[in-house]
Amino acid sequence: MAKREFSSARSSAPVEAGEDGQFVWTRKDLLGLDELSERQIVHILDTAESFKEVSTRSIKKVPALRGKVVGLLFFEDSTRTRMSFELAASRMSADTILFTSKGSSVAKGETTLDTVRNIEAMGVDIFVIRHGQSGAPHVIARKVKSSIVNAGDGSHEHPTQGLLDIFTIRQRLGRVKGLKAAIVGDIAHSRVARSNIIGLQKLGAEVVVVGPPTLVPPAIKEMGCSISHDLDEILPQVDVVNMLRIQFERFTGAGAAFPSMREYANMYGLNAARLKRCKKNILVMHPGPINRGLEITTEVADGPNSCILQQVTNGLAVRMAVLYLVSQAAEK
Ligand code: CP
Repeated sequence: MAKREFSSARSSAPVEAGEDGQFVWTRKDLLGLDELSERQIVHILDTAESFKEVSTRSIKKVPALRGKVVGLLFFEDSTRTRMSFELAASRMSADTILFTSKGSSVAKGETTLDTVRNIEAMGVDIFVIRHGQSGAPHVIARKVKSSIVNAGDGSHEHPTQGLLDIFTIRQRLGRVKGLKAAIVGDIAHSRVARSNIIGLQKLGAEVVVVGPPTLVPPAIKEMGCSISHDLDEILPQVDVVNMLRIQFERFTGAGAAFPSMREYANMYGLNAARLKRCKKNILVMHPGPINRGLEITTEVADGPNSCILQQVTNGLAVRMAVLYLVSQAAEK
């Protein structure tokens, strides 16, 4: 996985301090964690912390985005990210419009850019975009005036997933700096892996990626993490283990990535026997959706070390924070 550049011409380095020395958020887009500083990531996490309380109120709404329109553009399938952004926008009093490529004029040959420009013409302030093509949100960000939030682009980045994962680690373990995290499985196709590697390292954690050689590109080392093909050797060393979904839908060509599902589960699946050899408080994560019995057993996914549903809960606050911050920057 060679390092690629998806810079957005308009996301130039922001001014980080206002007249009073306070941190000022000036990014109108969120395209990836690679473009953020440690301080900017922490600012999003801290803003999310303040939005968590909204979901505990009897009336779960604040007027922060009243009058704004959030366009949810999902060119790829989603459950968690789409619904979480939709609810986040609703909690902030924004109007939402939803586009999914199935049933749209994409089937008649309309391009992604024409689709976005036409929806922008309806008065959208913020686009949340998931696309199968790596870099698609970055290209769109150069062509439209609205804010762009990347909800997952190909195998490149899934920044809000990375943020909610880091938020959950900080919440459960009290810190990120100095921790060791293993990201296990289908690294080759994983935008979640990339955003986690980038974000965790920026906040001072050590990252090791683990999986069969067919699913761990050697070039991933260029991102600063280490590589292992031996899960049993790595597990006792780590504080966090993030079990990635095997993304069968992205497998291309005739060559199978591993001999059989059974063999993959035996070598790289997280089960109760393996968990016993881990640190007592190891945090077990999974971005979802889960292939139960393949990358993780039900016993572990639903057990006391798992924070999988907490990740989903935290995703709401993180996405509220992101929508709020990009909207504030767009008004400046
Ligand atoms: N984690 C995640 O992105 O899930 P969805 O594909 O359901 O949005």
